[in-house]
Amino acid sequence: MSEESKGCKVSGYEFYRSIGSPKYILAPMVDQSELAFRLLCKNHGTQLTYTPMFHSRVWVDHKEYRNRHWQVVAGEGPMFVQFCGNEPETVLEATRLCMELPHARDIVAAFDLNLGCPQRIAQRGRYGSYLMEEQDVIRRIVETMHRESEVPITCKVRIFPDVQHTLKYAEMLRDAGCQLLTVHGRTREQRGVKQGLADWDQIKMVREHIKDIPVIANGNIQTFEDVTKCMEYTGVDGIMSAVGLLENPALFSNQDDYDRAELALEYLDLTDRPNHNPPNVSYTKSHIFKVMLKEWMCFPDLRDAVQYSGTKEEMRKIIKEADSRKKERPDDWRTFYLNNFKETCQQRRQAKSSRKRKHNQQDTSDGNVEEQNTPTKIDKRDGSLVDGNVEQQTNE
Ligand SMILES: Cc1cc2nc3c(=O)[nH]c(=O)nc-3n(C[C@H](O)[C@H](O)[C@H](O)COP(=O)(O)O)c2cc1C
Repeated sequence: MSEESKGCKVSGYEFYRSIGSPKYILAPMVDQSELAFRLLCKNHGTQLTYTPMFHSRVWVDHKEYRNRHWQVVAGEGPMFVQFCGNEPETVLEATRLCMELPHARDIVAAFDLNLGCPQRIAQRGRYGSYLMEEQDVIRRIVETMHRESEVPITCKVRIFPDVQHTLKYAEMLRDAGCQLLTVHGRTREQRGVKQGLADWDQIKMVREHIKDIPVIANGNIQTFEDVTKCMEYTGVDGIMSAVGLLENPALFSNQDDYDRAELALEYLDLTDRPNHNPPNVSYTKSHIFKVMLKEWMCFPDLRDAVQYSGTKEEMRKIIKEADSRKKERPDDWRTFYLNNFKETCQQRRQAKSSRKRKHNQQDTSDGNVEEQNTPTKIDKRDGSLVDGNVEQQTNE
């Protein structure tokens, strides 16, 4: 850490140890890593959470935006707050304003710079992975944050196709003052139908190259077995998951067969908090859809019922109904699921490719959010939600 950096801020591994050396990490997700979902994951093995990405310019300019999105509870830390932006002073100001918000000083362990967003909206707004060609801008943001911010600055990046570029990039970030580096092992181009697998070899090479700050791996984590394999293979300090946790918020508790109805009901309970805005009902539905994906595949009438439900009480009833139907046939549930799920998967894949083809022809927006989702309705919903939200954030 440079000598000019603020106060007694801890760096690298000292910082990491000060927050309990978290190995299991919930990824930042626009509209999805909100308070209730963060708490749910923390109840089931997650050790560190991120807020969704906030746009630094909008955060600075609009108090209403800050208040609406700052939904936290005392004691929920350690939490990293993620910002995107391309102006050092604006990012810094956003983080200063954040530290003045309720409980921030207790729970905000670091500010994270989003350098991975591959969406067209990020290209138009010049942030996320579209700064990979403007490393001078990134360096200035990280240096400014490192020098001025009360808490450490961390970064979340995508890789370059050429590993040598990735290694130089990681080195630059570390030298500028980044205190923890998360590597999403996909390139900017790996999105939509081209998403493919994350490259654990590149993550491993970054780990071997950058030894003095913690490195976190992200990508291809669906089960606890993947968590163990990835840690062993790459040698990273921790694992971050996004879609895997959306589908199984208990992923890090090493219980792949955790009762999904219980998790869905617990999530709904967590959305009811006194003095807090409940999450938008469409975000809530999106979680319910994903957590009980298999059940909705088997009981499409109930999936439609969730889709058209208007209240949490209705959702609770539908979840319980799905659970009791499942329990009525415990012996053949698995076969029943496999038979139905397999077929539905094929249909989904076909529908998805044709949607993507249409989508690409129209050349509207795309990104790593849409591509992650599954059934048509959920897919559309999440894509538009995320785009809508970011659009709103970047409506500068
Ligand atoms: C719904 C959704 C929203 C996301 N929003 C963000 C975000 O706000 N900031 C960010 O850095 N990445 C965001 N991502 C990317 C994830 O954090 C993660 O890097 C990516 O999904 C790969 O991890 P996975 O393979 O575990 O899903 C988002 C992903 C999803 C599915």
